[in-house]
Amino acid sequence: MKNTLFCFLLLIVVPILASSVEKKVYIVYLGLHNNGEKALHEIEKTHISYLLSVKESEEDAKSSLLYSYKHSINGFAAKLTPDEASKLSGMDGLLSVFPSHGKHSVQTTRSWEFVGLDEGDSYSWEKLKMGGEDLLSKAKHGKNVIIGVMDSGLWPESPSFSDQGMDPTPKSWKGICQGGVAFNSSNCNKKIIGARYYVKGFQNAYGPVNATEDYLSPRDMDGHGTHTASTAAGRQVSDVAAFGGFAKGTASGGAPLARLAIYKACWAIPNQPKADGNTCFDEDMLAALDDAIADGVHILSVSIGTAKPLPFEHDVIGLAALEAAKRNILVVCSAGNSGPAPGTLSNPAPWIITVGASSLDRAFFAPVKLGNGLKLIGQSVTPYNMKKMSPLVYAGDVVVPGVPLNVTGQCLPGSLDPNKVKGKIVVCTRGAGLRVGKGLEVKRAGGVGFVLANAKANGDEIACDAHLLPATTLTYDSGIKILEYINSTKNPMAVVSPGRTVLKYKPAPFMAGFTSRGPNVVDPNILKPDITAPGLNILAAWSEASSPSKLPEDKRSVKYNIYSGTSMSCPHVSGAAALLKAIHPDWSIAAIKSALMTTAAITNSLGRAITDAGGNNATPFQFGAGHFRPIKAVDPGLIYDTSYDDYLLYLCTAGPKSLIELSSTFKCPPNPPSTLNLNYPSFAIPNLNTTVTITRTVTNIGRPKSTYFFSAKPPPGVRVKASPSILQFKRIGEKLSFNITVSPINDPPVKKSEYGFGWYSWDGRYYHVRSPMAVYLP
Ligand SMILES: *[C@@H]1O[C@H](CO)[C@@H](O)[C@H](O)[C@H]1NC(C)=O
Ligand SMILES: *[C@@H]1O[C@H](CO)[C@@H](O)[C@H](O)[C@H]1NC(C)=O
Ligand SMILES: *[C@@H]1O[C@H](CO)[C@@H](O)[C@H](O)[C@H]1NC(C)=O
Ligand SMILES: *[C@@H]1O[C@H](CO)[C@@H](O)[C@H](O)[C@H]1NC(C)=O
Ligand SMILES: *[C@@H]1O[C@H](CO)[C@@H](O)[C@H](O)[C@H]1NC(C)=O
Ligand SMILES: *[C@@H]1O[C@H](CO)[C@@H](O)[C@H](O)[C@H]1NC(C)=O
Repeated sequence: MKNTLFCFLLLIVVPILASSVEKKVYIVYLGLHNNGEKALHEIEKTHISYLLSVKESEEDAKSSLLYSYKHSINGFAAKLTPDEASKLSGMDGLLSVFPSHGKHSVQTTRSWEFVGLDEGDSYSWEKLKMGGEDLLSKAKHGKNVIIGVMDSGLWPESPSFSDQGMDPTPKSWKGICQGGVAFNSSNCNKKIIGARYYVKGFQNAYGPVNATEDYLSPRDMDGHGTHTASTAAGRQVSDVAAFGGFAKGTASGGAPLARLAIYKACWAIPNQPKADGNTCFDEDMLAALDDAIADGVHILSVSIGTAKPLPFEHDVIGLAALEAAKRNILVVCSAGNSGPAPGTLSNPAPWIITVGASSLDRAFFAPVKLGNGLKLIGQSVTPYNMKKMSPLVYAGDVVVPGVPLNVTGQCLPGSLDPNKVKGKIVVCTRGAGLRVGKGLEVKRAGGVGFVLANAKANGDEIACDAHLLPATTLTYDSGIKILEYINSTKNPMAVVSPGRTVLKYKPAPFMAGFTSRGPNVVDPNILKPDITAPGLNILAAWSEASSPSKLPEDKRSVKYNIYSGTSMSCPHVSGAAALLKAIHPDWSIAAIKSALMTTAAITNSLGRAITDAGGNNATPFQFGAGHFRPIKAVDPGLIYDTSYDDYLLYLCTAGPKSLIELSSTFKCPPNPPSTLNLNYPSFAIPNLNTTVTITRTVTNIGRPKSTYFFSAKPPPGVRVKASPSILQFKRIGEKLSFNITVSPINDPPVKKSEYGFGWYSWDGRYYHVRSPMAVYLP
């Protein structure tokens, strides 16, 4: 699966240059903020006084300080020796001292029609109007909502960020438009109401930003940040298509009139292929989030993660999101692109919405016709035409001497023999190396066409790339067929047809192979991810300073690009959350999450269970509560509400307790409840060795007088009951609690040693309020 990591540009933690510098950057976190009483410069003074206690001089202390976080977060980032760090961590009041990490930034328009948001809706998955009014109009296209996007910046000239016809910037906005290279205050407008950048951590590790590799400003040289921002809140732009005709239609973000505030904290890594992705340093991200929270964003969209989950006290996105939760700011994050391995999920904090990635109902059919008449339906977004049949070869048969056996079919750079490739179509397999790079290698060796065959692990999941020659990509099964054909004849021939866009492709959605999976190893009692949204082959705006493939050989410049990853699914949910926020300004962030989760779909367009890319049933460890349905989420009937204090109580158990007690007036009770009892719209039991009782409380926001009945589809070998099993509400806003008992059917249980999955639901006359469950039977 190495290649998916490369291809989908993920979230790998880059080992910080283990270098000659013995001073590393440490984040010193002072716990929750009790600001208000202290002036900002007083806070900075306190931070310096901590440093003074380990540094020689005031000079020394000040120069070691990278950031003093004081607007919404309390802490600082400083260059320290391990010795100094360990001295600091022993001091009173310092909650957490940890070395900073660099993270890879992770990790359309069809997508909104697919979930039934569009107005034209001829291809809607679900045509659902609300009282004659569609969701977008009801939410006024999200015009009063401010979405902060922390990423690689933004390409402000994209038509997706035009402010034509928009109302003045909301008065509540406190952010700024920070100038820099190729960016000044006139690049902000009523759409892009704020833009800033954070680079001290990056520059401390890599030196000054190289002007040919990135802009020292909020401008995006990569494309990733432009793509995510326009997916969340891009304007409706008609007649957009990628590469001269693919995915043609109106490009639009989820909340086309919402405001965007751009926080650039991710930068190109010097001397590394840009296609490998950006890096975002903890200290830069914390500074970005500190400002974003104080600036007054309503929703933060963060398509950044780690390859592995981090404990809460070292997880800067999670810590900042907790400060955001205090102010009812919703943080939406990618689950990560480290699938299909289990336990890979990042951003697991329960106050965050964690988003997995799945397919759309759109495909780009590019058949390859074989000499024996067989036609294999591949997919491609490659705008090149091929007129006649040409000889077909398998890459493994045309390599230069010395290519290692395990990569012979992979078309890695320099591996093909031009004498054997010239004028032919080459079949390469996925595995190691970049997908577009394989096509380039075929082109370099004189090939006239390229067929990329999925490896077994990729199954039916086709990531469409803008290859530089006629090309198509085959599923694993079709890949086997083309290789069998090559084996079966002396003169194999083929012709690759150019791709065409096909809508209503079934089944959809299915889960992307790369989407990171549960169980949540930080707290296995909290089921993650929360939800899935489109993240495969998503069309959105792009940086004109980048090529679509980000390869140095690729000189194309495009306004829109097709891209895949949980980076792409996260802003779908941010956009949907903005619409919900616009319609229900009084909802808590937990209510928004609950509404999205309990109304999500667990079946595909064929009415069957959502599968993975290989056709096997997918589980809540991939899709959480299911595929989001924003229209249904507007009116969910019941919600699982959770307050900021509930999250603090949760941390009394999930720890570190000191995070709360050192810095706030909140006191943990002597015996805090199990984290299973956080009022979450799902649950996970990591070891069902005996009966477990879980308490939940639902709030009625549907109809005043209503009755709900409990039903459940427990995992095999598990019994699930509720008490009471009928909830009778008399008014709006009424809260009712219930207990769920979960027990093994056989006692002692039959040995299983695996997770099973199911759901329970409260069914009323108008609503079905469903929650997923994951239960491990030992
Ligand atoms: C911003 O930059 C543009 C292009 O360089 C220039 O025309 C414009 O005057 C600048 N605006 C401000 C406010 O500096
Ligand atoms: C800046 O980046 C370019 C392209 O990667 C490279 O050729 C050049 O040497 C770099 N300059 C410095 C000063 O590192
Ligand atoms: C191929 O084998 C070599 C040496 O045995 C190993 O270093 C390399 O990682 C392998 N490559 C892949 C893609 O498995
Ligand atoms: C094609 O033939 C080779 C060598 O005879 C064999 O190793 C390979 O498995 C065959 N491939 C298929 C798909 O039949
Ligand atoms: C049941 O599982 C929990 C959680 O792993 C563990 O703490 C407890 O000791 C187990 N109880 C028994 C009786 O094995
Ligand atoms: C749930 O169970 C607890 C303890 O087992 C009990 O105190 C509480 O009253 C129960 N709640 C409901 C709603 O039945």
